[in-house]
Amino acid sequence: MADPASTRPPIRIAPSILSADFSRFGEEVMDVQRAGADWIHIDVMDGHFVPNLTFGAGVVKALRSLGTIPFDVHLMIERPWDVVNTYVEAGADVITAHVEAFVPATARKRAQRGWTLDGYQYLDDDSRRRVREFIASVLTHGKKVGLALNPTTPASVVEEFLGEADLILAMTVWPGFGGQKFIEDVMPKVKQLRLMSNDRVHVEVDGGIGLETVQTAVGSGANVLVAGTSVFGDPERAVAIRGLREKAAAAPRP
Ligand code: DX5
Ligand code: ZN
Repeated sequence: MADPASTRPPIRIAPSILSADFSRFGEEVMDVQRAGADWIHIDVMDGHFVPNLTFGAGVVKALRSLGTIPFDVHLMIERPWDVVNTYVEAGADVITAHVEAFVPATARKRAQRGWTLDGYQYLDDDSRRRVREFIASVLTHGKKVGLALNPTTPASVVEEFLGEADLILAMTVWPGFGGQKFIEDVMPKVKQLRLMSNDRVHVEVDGGIGLETVQTAVGSGANVLVAGTSVFGDPERAVAIRGLREKAAAAPRP
């Protein structure tokens, strides 16, 4: 009988350059790459979908010539479907957009710390069509496609896309800033996503991942671990990445 563990998606450690030294992006990417990172996580923020503004495709393109590992681009922007080509051309390997961004502003609520679809357990037909078009356009370019959920957005919203999406990102903080506290209440949703996607899909957690929280996340079913502060905040990046990997490997996976 095949070992059921072998069908599980592999653990991937993805340092987020949001916590890197912005004056030395190139060196920082090379540094975590040498230190054993699996993917580079790139947080694109537009100052509208989230209250912070970071960097865009120009930075992704500039870093692409230095980085050889996959670039995991997390779009925290309005109208993500409009920029698929731009980020593909810049060199993104995984392109993830927030499902909340596909819903018209009238059908979502600005919670205290970001958009939520609470109370909306489904997407209207137009939003659903836009999500499908987004997924198809990323896949047409041969790239991996992800959908992200804010902490209070339910897993049911993405259930219908699990057959096509490569990755679901469960935010474990409200998007916008690094260095926030891990929201443990998101773990039942991570378990649900892992169960619903039947090991076919990467389940990514993003926010507050460090040595104290990584086992909880992996034990709930996450396999892609975004780590900003816990990797870039440690001068010994190789030690930080190894520490996360060892903890993740020791966690009982569901
Ligand atoms: C938050 C970003 C995260 C952030 C994580 O909006 O999506 O990727 O960089 O940072 P830490 O690991 O510091 O919580
Ligand atoms: Zn992110």
